[in-house]
Order: sequence, then C-alpha cells, then structure tokens
Amino acid sequence: MADTPSSMQLFLEKLGLQGPGVDIRNFAVMETLRITVNIYPMVFVFQQDEKLLMEMNAAFAELFEMSYSPGILDIKKAFESNPGILSLLLGTLSEKKEYISHFHYFERIDRLVYMLIDAQMIKKDELHIGTVFIFREISNLIQLETDLLRIDRLSTIGKMAAGIAHEIRNPMTSIRGFLQMLSRDLIGNNWGKQKAYTDLALQEIDRVNELLNQLLLLAKPVEFVLKDVDINEMVKDVGKLHESDAIIHQIHVKYRLASVPRVKMDENMFKQVLTNLIRNAIEAMEDSGELKLSTHYEADKDKVVVEVADTGPGIPSYLNDRIFDAFFTTKEHGTGLGLAICQRIVHEFGGHIRMTSKGYGTTFAILLPPSAWE
Ligand SMILES: Nc1ncnc2c1ncn2[C@@H]1O[C@H](COP(=O)(O)OP(=O)(O)O)[C@@H](O)[C@H]1O
Ligand SMILES: [Mg+2]
Repeated sequence: MADTPSSMQLFLEKLGLQGPGVDIRNFAVMETLRITVNIYPMVFVFQQDEKLLMEMNAAFAELFEMSYSPGILDIKKAFESNPGILSLLLGTLSEKKEYISHFHYFERIDRLVYMLIDAQMIKKDELHIGTVFIFREISNLIQLETDLLRIDRLSTIGKMAAGIAHEIRNPMTSIRGFLQMLSRDLIGNNWGKQKAYTDLALQEIDRVNELLNQLLLLAKPVEFVLKDVDINEMVKDVGKLHESDAIIHQIHVKYRLASVPRVKMDENMFKQVLTNLIRNAIEAMEDSGELKLSTHYEADKDKVVVEVADTGPGIPSYLNDRIFDAFFTTKEHGTGLGLAICQRIVHEFGGHIRMTSKGYGTTFAILLPPSAWE
C-alpha cells in the first residue's frame, strides 16, 4: 500500500513539492489552515490578568465592519457598538461552552446580518486558555428563504384576490352605468342635491374600481408588452409627473442619471413601479425633504439600478420583511398593495428590489438585467 503513490502525492510531485525534505502532509495541513484562516471570519478570545482580549483575522473585521489591525485587542472596546455579539463571545468563554453552527444575527447599519458560529475551546496541557470562534455568514440563504415564503404567500393571496376582484367588478360596472344615467337625468330638474349625491357615489365607485384594478394587477398574469426601453427617459417622465405634487409638499426632486444599458420590459408596468415608489417616498416625507431619482450600472452584478431615495423617517428593520406583503400598510388610508405590485412586476422582468433604510431616509433600488448596450 505504502509503495503506491496516491493521486495527491503524484499531483504534489508534479508541482515539485514531493521529494526528500518536504513533508507533504504537514505542508497540506499548513496550506489548509492558511486558506481557512483567510476565508472564514475568526476570532480568538482569551483572558489574561483579568483582561478580556481578542485577536481577529481580516475576514472577521470585514464581517463586523471594523478596521483590521493585527495583534491583540481589548474585546470590550472593540465591541462597544455591538453588545449582542460581545456577550455571546464572553459568555461562551467564561462558561467553557463549545458548539457548532450556533445561529446568531445582528443589525448592521443597512441590514440584518445572519450567521452561524462555531466555538471551540483551545487547551494547553488540559488548561483552557481561550476559545476560538469561526463564523459563516448566511444572510443570502436567509434572504432566499424569506423571498420564497413571500412569493408563496403572494401567490395564494393573489389568486384569492383575483377571484373576488373579478366578481365585484362586473356588478360595479352596471351600478356605475345606472348612476351615470341617473346623474344625467337629474340635471336641470331642480334635483341639485340629489345630483351631488349621485356624483359622490360615482367618485366612491371609481375609488373601489381603482382598488380592484390594483388587486387584479397584483394577481392576474398580466400580458406584458416587452420593449427595449431607455430607463433614464422613463425615470424623467415619471419624475416630471410627480414634480408638482412634490412642490406642494416642499420636496425637492433631484435627478442623477448615468448612462446605462437598455432594459427589456413593459413600459406601462415599469411606470407603475416607479409611480408607486415615488408616491411612497413623497408620502413618507410629508412636508419638506429631498426625493432623489438616480440610475447607474452595477458592473460586477451586471444590473441596471434605478434608485428612489427619500429623506423621510425611514423603515425600522423589523418591518423589512413585511412591507412587501400585500395589504401591509402603516397608513390610515393605505391599501398596502403598492410595494407588493412593484415586487411582482420587477420579478416578472427577472429583476429584484432592494430596500435600505439607515435610521432616517429610505432607498428603494430596482435591479434589472440589461438587454444590451445601446
Ligand atoms: N419610502 C418609504 N418610507 C417609509 N416607509 C415606507 C416607504 N415606502 C413604503 N413604506 C412602508 O411600507 C408600507 C407599504 O407600502 P405600500 O405597499 O406602498 O402600501 P401603502 O403605501 O398603501 O401603505 C407603507 O405603509 C409604509 O409603512
Ligand atoms: Mg404605497
């Protein structure tokens, strides 16, 4: 057995790493360690003379958005702004705990960061000298799971809503027709008061119809008319439509449009998305603020990005997952359908929506796959 070289040995031989004087196994172990230490965020936590200390690697600093400095640090100072992780690390150390894949999350300025943590004690001559923690960030997985759940919820609600909306729309159309006839007959016969009532009823019916249309938009598989469109033109068009509304609320509208590839999509649908986001932004700011509409191309993801940013009160992170739910609203007269519709439409074009809110101010980014450069 020992005489037959393994494929690993042959491979290393080719690389010139096999032969007298080179201990392949040690080499492989050292290399594995080097690679692991470079990839996984790690921190070694230990106590010395009553002081609680730590040494981290660069990947750890990146995960926790700290500036990386090699060497020993005071752990309490390093984690002043993240007491959750501090108490987890210190608790594990003092209680001599060990675990694999412990789930933990914390709130970074722009988003929640989810991770799995392994903790192992390091012992020297049976003495516990400290604990090493290894982290794996799983935010992407969690995001995927919540997206899938949302899509599932949306399709159930959507199917129900479509059925109901469809049934209500037909009788609504006849009621509207009769009221219009009545309203016409009431003109000129001294029935002024009655005419005003029918007109009010008509307005209310129009509101219901608008709601039904939105529900159908959310639920029904709409027929899209796909075209190669210039995103900047659309942002300008829809932005203009809302400028007067913005002015009334003393909101300044700013455009930052970069040159971006064209995108294949349905113009009307996309205008609906922009309209919903802009309306939300204006509603969030109430009186005074800045609405920024911008576009850019994100080369590493190969996505055209359209951003609608406001200086409103922001969205607390515990609502992050709920705002896209159909019927979720915090407004007295809201329908809670705006963002659900946006998401549905954007998904239809192979894109997605990203929301960031940093204490105050909110940015909705629509990421779309480009069709081609002009
Ligand atoms: N720009 C924003 N700033 C703050 N909160 C927002 C913003 N956009 C959306 N939201 C929150 O998301 C909720 C859902 O929005 P939406 O689906 O458009 O429904 P609606 O506008 O009818 O409430 C809003 O009620 C609000 O709480
Ligand atoms: Mg809305």
